[in-house]
Amino acid sequence: MLVKKISKEKENELLTEVKRVRENAYAPYSHFKVGAAVLCGKDKVFTGYNVENVSLGLSICAERAAIVKAFSERSRKITHIAIITDTEKPSPPCGICRQIMYEFNPDMVIILANLKGKRTRKRAKDLLPLAYRRNIKD
Ligand code: THU
Repeated sequence: MLVKKISKEKENELLTEVKRVRENAYAPYSHFKVGAAVLCGKDKVFTGYNVENVSLGLSICAERAAIVKAFSERSRKITHIAIITDTEKPSPPCGICRQIMYEFNPDMVIILANLKGKRTRKRAKDLLPLAYRRNIKD
């Protein structure tokens, strides 16, 4: 899916949103709060944060929460995802989330940020080389 470059203003808007929603993360076990927001189609934004469970393996990452929210509201052209963590360097997404991002758009731009204002951008396909995908013909 072709992904157009977004403006600095739009990116800043996404970052403001992820910073805000991160506060609401339900992370009583790890205390590691993550905020995420996806940009769909022309201008729709869906947010998410991590939701943990006492059965730890059931915890859901912020990225997946935001992606599933968008997808289930029929906003399926996800072009960007912004993620924020309180870490020294912006924290890259886990393997499961990379596979989920890849499913919906291998060209998805992943904007990683920390609370100190550091930012970096990656593509889903670059974070998941040799991805497992449908219709492998070669
Ligand atoms: N977490 C995310 O929300 N996104 C990631 O990409 C990595 C991990 C969450 C899951 C768990 O609630 C907490 O961070 C600690 O791993």
